[in-house]
Amino acid sequence: MSGHVVIAVDGPAASGKGTLARRLAAELGYAYLDTGLLYRVVGLILIRQGLDPADENAAAEAAIVFDAATADFNDPALRDEETSKAAGIVAAFPAVRAALVDVQRRFAANPPGGAEGGAQGVARGAVLDGRDIGTVICPDADYKFFLEADIEERARRRVKELRDRGDTVILNLVLQEMKERDERDRTRAVAPLAPAADASVVNTTNLNADAAFALAMSLIR
Ligand code: C5P
Repeated sequence: MSGHVVIAVDGPAASGKGTLARRLAAELGYAYLDTGLLYRVVGLILIRQGLDPADENAAAEAAIVFDAATADFNDPALRDEETSKAAGIVAAFPAVRAALVDVQRRFAANPPGGAEGGAQGVARGAVLDGRDIGTVICPDADYKFFLEADIEERARRRVKELRDRGDTVILNLVLQEMKERDERDRTRAVAPLAPAADASVVNTTNLNADAAFALAMSLIR
């Protein structure tokens, strides 16, 4: 027994998984890890080095030297569409995924924090969101949610998010990019995007963030 709770929240882009995972972590006093950021950091390293994200050796090298302790997860460029695309490409490489497994499992096993009553320096639980948390990273998670929504709705959400931060974007291009990224995530050979057999599948197409949160909390309690 690990003695603390692990919650896995998986799903495609803009399905609402990040919003739900963050809220669950805040409500329960658990540590939160957005695992997409790890793949985004690797993609951004390649972009900044002028390398092609489809260069498997370069991507593997970047993932191996990646250090979560020193990476800047607040860099706004991590949210750029170009970085999203690069993240989806590097995430399909088995060596990249393998290099990032330990940092995710360590987080789940020893969630940083502890202000909410856990042992010193360790939170009472962890919430991780991504694509393969319930299937590969934490198959023994205590609770698993898989969020999905119609792709048109997800593209609209992503456009709003990008416009809110001042980017000029075209809905059709975002939709097209999202379709390609979904397809790559669902069909890759290693850790494809899919609900774990024991995950609660939640369709958020017509469910706002409050309703998704209430539903998830009711399943946890
Ligand atoms: O969740 P987010 O959109 O930030 O993830 C960026 C990309 O990283 C995804 O398109 C996916 O290809 C990859 N990813 C992954 N496994 C995860 C998290 C993200 O393959 N656990």
